[in-house]
Amino acid sequence: MKRSTGAIVLLIWVMSLMLFGAVGCSNDDDNSGVVSPVTARERFDLKPLGPIPYPPNNPPMQERISLGRFLFYDPLLGGELDVSCATCHHPAFAFADLRQFPVGVAGRGGLGPDRIRGNSSVTGEPVGFTPRNSPTVFNTAFNADETGEPTHNGFFFWDGRVKSLEVQATKPITSRVEMRGDAYPGDNDHAAASSLDSVLNRLRAVPEYVERFAVAFPQEFAEWQGGTRAHVIDSSTYGRAMASYERELVTRNSPYDRYVAGDDNALTTAQLRGLELFFTKAKCAMCHSGPMFSDFEFIVNGVPQEGPGKDVMPGDDAGREEFTLSSADRYAFRTPTLRNVELTPPYMHDGVFETLEQVMDFYNDGAFPRHPQCNTEDLHPALRDPLGLTDSEIQDIVEFMKSLTDPGTQLSGFLLTVPEHVPSGLVPVFGLSAPPPVSGPNG
Ligand code: HEC
Ligand code: HEC
Repeated sequence: MKRSTGAIVLLIWVMSLMLFGAVGCSNDDDNSGVVSPVTARERFDLKPLGPIPYPPNNPPMQERISLGRFLFYDPLLGGELDVSCATCHHPAFAFADLRQFPVGVAGRGGLGPDRIRGNSSVTGEPVGFTPRNSPTVFNTAFNADETGEPTHNGFFFWDGRVKSLEVQATKPITSRVEMRGDAYPGDNDHAAASSLDSVLNRLRAVPEYVERFAVAFPQEFAEWQGGTRAHVIDSSTYGRAMASYERELVTRNSPYDRYVAGDDNALTTAQLRGLELFFTKAKCAMCHSGPMFSDFEFIVNGVPQEGPGKDVMPGDDAGREEFTLSSADRYAFRTPTLRNVELTPPYMHDGVFETLEQVMDFYNDGAFPRHPQCNTEDLHPALRDPLGLTDSEIQDIVEFMKSLTDPGTQLSGFLLTVPEHVPSGLVPVFGLSAPPPVSGPNG
């Protein structure tokens, strides 16, 4: 399925070069290359995001969505009660955090770029950065699997080591730098086998959570009548509740989406030129394809490494090899979505590029400083040669990427705002202390 998609993209590319040869030439003149919105839509076979794919055991239910929303913003999930999912995936930052590397547990000083690292309240030791850039949670409902098609069982994380939102939701809790779950193996009176269990035990100790889980999972609750009431809270119901909230965070009202839906005036002329280049000369759509602008393939594109790196190679990040342990996957990362990319700088798995212009320079210039361990032949074939884009063509592609922005204009305030309180009684997102005043642009 995916191979043929790649072939079709390539075919479209070659055909467009033949039919619309002017686009293939470098030309700095802004009036050149007028792109017909009508034919571009057809030539590139542009499709909207489809309906949300739901797992059979987790259909959309208001009670689960509401419960998942509480969980998402509740610092009870953080080992030191000071970090929630929203610490790194905040609605004010398009469900990312605008940082190169997230500051999770023990961070102080506010949100996103304002956060500074602190010392663990348990060990007194400084806590390191999370080694990868936070991706957005927007539209992860459509993450695809190996077929390239959106599914409830799609790939998650930069290296695709986890499938499905339900399973993903259990992972940050157990990460030392993210939520420090591993510091709490035996937290509270229950004998907790793992950090996830210790967090589940915390939830079981909050009567409002027990009540809400029972309502959101009536069948599971009925099956648990033999055990204690609180046992309706397990890793499965927890994961499904969290995923139920995240899965609704779909944004399908960008200028690009309106254009695909038939509005010929939704894109500016620069964006239309950028679209044409994106699908042709610049080769972007060979990987950033389909309604998600990702083929969900694992690709070596030779991004330079910054930051602490990952476990297998300290100081470096081997990408998918960390998970498959196959050297063929060294430095392969999942093609990320480009939806809302304007809102989620910095870019790449290690946030090494601050602007979309820097990303474009990286792709345009085959010899751009890249990972010292990556030779040209290691790179995906589409990336081996310089693209020869002019400055104005680069700007057009950047403009096109900005047409993929929709900060949730059709989503309810309920989905997009932090709840005023969460069942644990902690301060939402922040935990034990009140949130610091929001600092304005001048500090
Ligand atoms: C300290 C910051 C931090 C916290 C807290 C955190 N995350 Fe993340 N999140 C990240 C980073 C970094 C990644 C990418 C990690 C990787 O790819 O290895 C990520 C990845 C994800 C993804 C995958 C997106 C994709 O397309 O692959 C989802 C979904 C997600 N987080 C949801 C959550 C949920 C739910 C919670 C709370 C239970 C949470 N995160 C807590 C930083 C954080
Ligand atoms: C061969 C596949 C491939 C091609 C071609 C490609 N990309 Fe990418 N793109 C990727 C992968 C893989 C990553 C993530 C790499 C990493 O983080 O190490 C990425 C990352 C990005 C990012 C960062 C997104 C984020 O959220 O951090 C942007 C922006 C981007 N690409 C735009 C483009 C544009 C524009 C083009 C065309 C000029 C292009 N890409 C061509 C595979 C590709």
